[in-house]
Amino acid sequence: MSNDNRQILDFIRHLLSATANAALYGMEHPQVLHLSSQAFASIGAILESRQDFTLLIVENELVIDGHPQDLSLFLSRFAQILKSRGIGTIKLMAGITKQEVVALIGGLARQLDDGAQGTASSDHIRLGKVDIRVAESSGEANTGESSKPALTLPDMPKEEFARFMDIYETVKKKQKLQINGVFDVVSGFINAFRQEGKPLLAMAALRDSDEYTFTHSTNVCVLNLAQAMALGIEGQLLNDIGVAAMLHDIGKLFIPEEILTKTDKLTTEEFTIMKQHPDKGARHLLETSGVPRLAVIAAYEHHLKFNLSGYPKVSPGWQQNLCSHMTMISDFFDALRTRRSYRDPMPLPEVTGMMVGMMGTDLHPALTRNFLRIISMLSEAVG
Ligand SMILES: [Fe+2]
Ligand SMILES: [Fe+2]
Repeated sequence: MSNDNRQILDFIRHLLSATANAALYGMEHPQVLHLSSQAFASIGAILESRQDFTLLIVENELVIDGHPQDLSLFLSRFAQILKSRGIGTIKLMAGITKQEVVALIGGLARQLDDGAQGTASSDHIRLGKVDIRVAESSGEANTGESSKPALTLPDMPKEEFARFMDIYETVKKKQKLQINGVFDVVSGFINAFRQEGKPLLAMAALRDSDEYTFTHSTNVCVLNLAQAMALGIEGQLLNDIGVAAMLHDIGKLFIPEEILTKTDKLTTEEFTIMKQHPDKGARHLLETSGVPRLAVIAAYEHHLKFNLSGYPKVSPGWQQNLCSHMTMISDFFDALRTRRSYRDPMPLPEVTGMMVGMMGTDLHPALTRNFLRIISMLSEAVG
């Protein structure tokens, strides 16, 4: 466990004790004041060496800095408290004041106490809400919309596709990546998502492939963004998750064309070469300035399964990043749902059935459930 991670766990422990005590004895109790000071001291120590960090709730699991944590009693309690208040993410930023920490504790404790609303974001504490669109599928947030969204593409993504296609071609020819262009494309997708929502997601699942790795990357990007937004992730982290998806297979540009486009089964030698694409991609991204760290990690880890089998080989106890788990899920889904020259797309119920069977071995269970909720919502929407 990294030192950072240990300090973050200390912070959560203090925050949780302070909240529980405040709910029982009120904010003015000496024990609560003491625990609040401890929580503030531990968060201060963490933010001395970094600008911010984000805690994320995925079902009842807590993810720190992208790393899902083992479920200790206090962590699952903390995750439950946040979840019961509709909080999906907490971003804590340098410059945080003791007052803000105390207000956070007070807000969480009040709701524990009487169910009142009101844990609010402040200048250096950003609370992300779990996206309401996930709740729609269970009928909890019926917006009364009756019209089914069309499956036609809005104008914007075509331009974005063209732009990404350009960037992609340049990497192929000159082996140099223009990272700023990728950021623009991803923010274009995020904006389109906000306006179009479901139709854009539908497009990802149903578009035919021309240039496979290219269309595949845009599909995985849209699917990753949908997963992340449904978990309440916003801002820089959302952008980075999209960029990571866009670039996850960049290493394939360094694999011989005849292996990439081969429609028959790969020989053992060919598969050994193919399996090098995560490592080659991560190395390429490491050498490119301005690439988010998350993109390097996801490129390296996106063929690692939940149980750490898959490739590349990693040591036992390896902590796979959440973004890599998400990318693996989107990647698997898209690979089977896209039409290839040599096969039709697999029917949706078969793909989702397979995914359910792979939960806990190949795929991250909570994230897969989140993904399947999005897909079932989508298939209901488009009929
Ligand atoms: Fe890949
Ligand atoms: Fe892929």
